[in-house]
Parts: sequence; structure tokens; C-alpha cells
Amino acid sequence: MLLPVWLLRHSVALCLLLLHSSVLNTFCFHHSSTSCSKGCYCSEAPGGAGGGRTVRCSHARLGEVPRDLPNDTQRLYLDFNHIASVPANAFEGLPLLAELDLSHNAIAKLESGAFRGLEERLQRLDLSTNRLMSLNREAVGSLRSRANLSHNPWHCDCELQHVVPSLELEPASLAGMVCETAVPEEHAGTPFLLLAHDVDLCNVARRTTDVAMLVTMFGWFAMVIAYLVHYVRQNQDDARRHMEYLKSLPGLQRKSEESFSISTVV
Ligand SMILES: *[C@@H]1O[C@H](CO)[C@@H](O)[C@H](O)[C@H]1NC(C)=O
Ligand SMILES: *[C@@H]1O[C@H](CO)[C@@H](O)[C@H](O)[C@H]1NC(C)=O
Repeated sequence: MLLPVWLLRHSVALCLLLLHSSVLNTFCFHHSSTSCSKGCYCSEAPGGAGGGRTVRCSHARLGEVPRDLPNDTQRLYLDFNHIASVPANAFEGLPLLAELDLSHNAIAKLESGAFRGLEERLQRLDLSTNRLMSLNREAVGSLRSRANLSHNPWHCDCELQHVVPSLELEPASLAGMVCETAVPEEHAGTPFLLLAHDVDLCNVARRTTDVAMLVTMFGWFAMVIAYLVHYVRQNQDDARRHMEYLKSLPGLQRKSEESFSISTVV
């Protein structure tokens, strides 16, 4: 009675093992059959003109953007990795790329030309949940994609206010774009959207420089006045001393005595 039960149990285990290895096999086979970057999963490209591949590299512990992606990649998911910066021409070989997800990384820097070649086609760019404080104008300036910039430690200043409008922001992501720091400081903690509408960060900056200019000019003015006063006083002293010297001269003494007597007569 025990033997059939034992067999049954082990056959189930055996079956599971076989299933597992077959799943592994197909997975490995799939990987080797499509030229896909390490740690990424590439879907088959749909046939027909304009068709493109979806490449998923999510949670792949990538430290940088992979270089060996299929050139017909249309959607690229690089979310949940450890990418810290996007170098120039990072997506150069992907002329069909329309959707790019770089969210949940450690991106603090987008170098000039990071998205070069994507200006025409890229429709969706997700940079949310990264470490961006500022945006490089040369990196994003010519993109026309919808962007999610939420959950980054934004430093809101004149420059950011200038660069952001060149992107079309994902409406649903706007509330999540908050200034962690700002110039002027009082705007730290404010959603960027509110600032962008109500405050001209560039004008504020200009006003503070104006005040600084005014203070400096006033300082200079005060110094010039002080010097003039000092100069006039010293000249008065000199003049008095000179007069006394003239009075002490004998020829003049008489004359002055005469003038003194005349003045007393008068
Ligand atoms: C991808 O590369 C192959 C081979 O070099 C080329 O024939 C094909 O046109 C390229 N596809 C795209 C979309 O550039
Ligand atoms: C933008 O990114 C945040 C954080 O990753 C996410 O929660 C949100 O759904 C995204 N919004 C859109 C519209 O993609």
C-alpha cells in the first residue's frame, strides 16, 4: 500500500522538475536565439513595416545603459536599475525608439546629447524617481516627447524654469514634481507647477542682483562723499595755515595792520 503512494509523490516531484527545466530551457533558448542585451528580455519583432521590438531590462541591476540593444527597439524599459548617468549618444543606434522608461534609477546627470537621435520619434520619456536636480538644456532641449519628471530632488531656479517648458510634461505626473531646494529658498517644498505659474524665478534672481548693485553703488557713493568732505576740510586747514603764514610775513603784517586800523576807523 505504501509503494504506490511513494511513487505518486515522487512522480509529482519528477514532473515539477521536468517542467522547471523545460521552462528554463525555453527561456535560455529564447535568449540565445534573439540577440538581446544581457539581463534584458527582447520580444520578437512583429512583422511588417514600422514594426519594432519591446526590450525589457527592468530590475536587471544595470549600472549603465546597455550598448548592444537591437536596432529595431521601439519600447525600452530600463526601470529599477542602478543607472547613475546617461552619456552622450546613449541611444544612438535605436532610430525607432518611441518609448523610454528610465524611472527608478539613480540618474543624477544627463549629459549633452544624451537623447541625440531620438528627437523625431520619442513619444514618451519616463525619468521619474531618480536623482535629478537640474536638466541639461543640451540633453532635453530638442525632444518632443511627453515626460514624467516626478519624484526627483529638483533644484528650482531660473535655469530649470527655462528648460522645463521645452518638454511636454505628463499631466498626471505634474503634482509629483516638487522643488526640493530652490532659489529663492522660500520656494523649497513647492510643486514646480505652482512656481512655474506664479513666480518668475529669473526675475527674482535679477531683482536680488539689482539690490546688490544698489547697495554697492551706495557704498561707493558714501565713500566718495566722505573723501570729498575730508579733502575740503584738509584744504581749509591748509588755507588757514597759508593765511597765517602770509600774515606772519613782515611786509604784509603792516598792510594788514593798516587794513585793521582802516577797518576800525570805518
Ligand atoms: C538594423 O540593422 C540591420 C543590419 O545592419 C539593417 O539591415 C536594418 O536596416 C537596421 N534597422 C534599422 C531600423 O535601422
Ligand atoms: C510618473 O512617475 C511616477 C513615479 O514613478 C508614477 O507613480 C506615475 O504613475 C507616473 N505618471 C505617469 C503619467 O506616467
